[in-house]
Amino acid sequence: MARIMSGVQPTGNLHIGNYLGALVNWVRLQAEYDAFFSIVDLHALTQRPDPEALRRAVREVAIGVLASGVDPDRATVFVQSHVPQHTELAWVLMCLTPLGDLNRMTQFKDKSHHQPENVNTGLFTYPVLQTADIVLYRADRVPVGEDQEQHLELARETVRRFNHVYGETFPEPQVVKSNAPRVMGLDGESKMSKSRNNEIGLFETADETMQKLRGAKTDPARLRKTDKGTPEVCNIFSYHGFFTSESQREEIAAGCRSAQLGCVDCKKMLCQNMETVKGPIRERAAELRSKPKDLDAILERGAARARAEAEKTMEMVRARVGLGVRA
Ligand code: TRP
Repeated sequence: MARIMSGVQPTGNLHIGNYLGALVNWVRLQAEYDAFFSIVDLHALTQRPDPEALRRAVREVAIGVLASGVDPDRATVFVQSHVPQHTELAWVLMCLTPLGDLNRMTQFKDKSHHQPENVNTGLFTYPVLQTADIVLYRADRVPVGEDQEQHLELARETVRRFNHVYGETFPEPQVVKSNAPRVMGLDGESKMSKSRNNEIGLFETADETMQKLRGAKTDPARLRKTDKGTPEVCNIFSYHGFFTSESQREEIAAGCRSAQLGCVDCKKMLCQNMETVKGPIRERAAELRSKPKDLDAILERGAARARAEAEKTMEMVRARVGLGVRA
């Protein structure tokens, strides 16, 4: 079975962008691959989160991953910092990575811009740690969104360099393109993200979601209920694409074009359909939250399997690069 590896950052609560963009894919891929899924808390440190908030976020994201249907009996689900080999390998790879390669990373530039008061070297070497995450498990494929493609290109380059200098060791990881499109935020202007405060939380109740949907932008040409709309330009209609059956979507589109259906009713239908997905996830999450010891055990089991695989790789790496005492 080919292997995949992917990671999610424990920042804030999961939203439907994370769910549609990553988690749905993870659930699908766990059946076809030997999957390693990590909650990457070391990466989150680059933003210097409050320690308690970080601990909480790691658990909440783990809960979200499991509640969405990732099965810990199938996939290896673990917290990155529980496997110390990640940082060990990252150091070895850093010593192979030219400064100029990291300087070109657009995400580093974006983030430096975003947090000018904290442009730390962890932020700079972030993609090297990400490369370590992947090659530690000798993963063949990596499911990520398009914003991670540059990091994956760097990972492949690093693998080629390592293999060239020290001998064939790692497979070049390929991107698995997710068929999930970018999920826009409630503002309809940028990608859904916690930092932009434009998200619909995965654990929100229907009431909370409806509250947010009420203020969400629709077709700007529809000022009054009697104005005819164009569903194709409406952000709310794009959400229907993820949650609503084709036949109901056709009804909605026709109602919007003819002004028979108002935006509030359209939003209510969306809210209800979202609840069909979110409701059961929210219930499973509540169940997991009520049994913290069980969650600990799941994560410890994942970490133990991950450590065993990671250590096999590190033994090889140490031998190749000349670490470890030998007569
Ligand atoms: N950088 C990725 C993101 O922000 C998260 C990540 C960390 C990751 N390590 C990874 C993704 C390894 C895939 C594989 O989305």
